[in-house]
Amino acid sequence: MAIQRTLILCKPDAVSRGLSGEIIRRIEARGYLLIGMKLMQLDGERARKHYGEHEGKPFFGGLVDFITSGPLVAMAVEGDDAIEGMRQMIGATNPLQAAPGTIRADFAQQIGRNLVHGSDSHESAKRELSIFFSPSEIVSRKHDSHKWLVEK
Ligand code: RTP
Ligand code: MG
Repeated sequence: MAIQRTLILCKPDAVSRGLSGEIIRRIEARGYLLIGMKLMQLDGERARKHYGEHEGKPFFGGLVDFITSGPLVAMAVEGDDAIEGMRQMIGATNPLQAAPGTIRADFAQQIGRNLVHGSDSHESAKRELSIFFSPSEIVSRKHDSHKWLVEK
């Protein structure tokens, strides 16, 4: 187990459907810490950078159009193995394949409107967090956090 940081986005469909609160609730209920959060609308340049690994794929243009289509909530989330844990909570890319109880299975129907983004590896998390947050926008909660995770 290791304390990790990951980038989570409530995508524009989540914000427009009023689901960002439910998504944040689930993150906090799992015990992860929010250490950065902002409402913002991406421009095309930042969106292409964020999803750079998908450049050239048939869905890339639609993905950039969608992620820039309205405000999103960007979050830096911290916790034990938070990268994998958040991916588990979010569910498979296609909501039809997502396990019941995951955010995508519970609230989404289409692969292109799947509500949430979560970094998929340590390298992605580091790269993506730097696209969305400057170091000064990350709040250290070390002083009051994770205490309850310590096993006696
Ligand atoms: P995300 O990056 O948004 O967290 O999603 P993911 O890791 O589960 O999936 P990824 O493979 O990174 O794809 C990024 C987003 O592109 C859209 N997509 N469409 N039509 C398609 O075949 C297709 N494949 C991917 C999805 O909206 C996915 O979330
Ligand atoms: Mg991805």
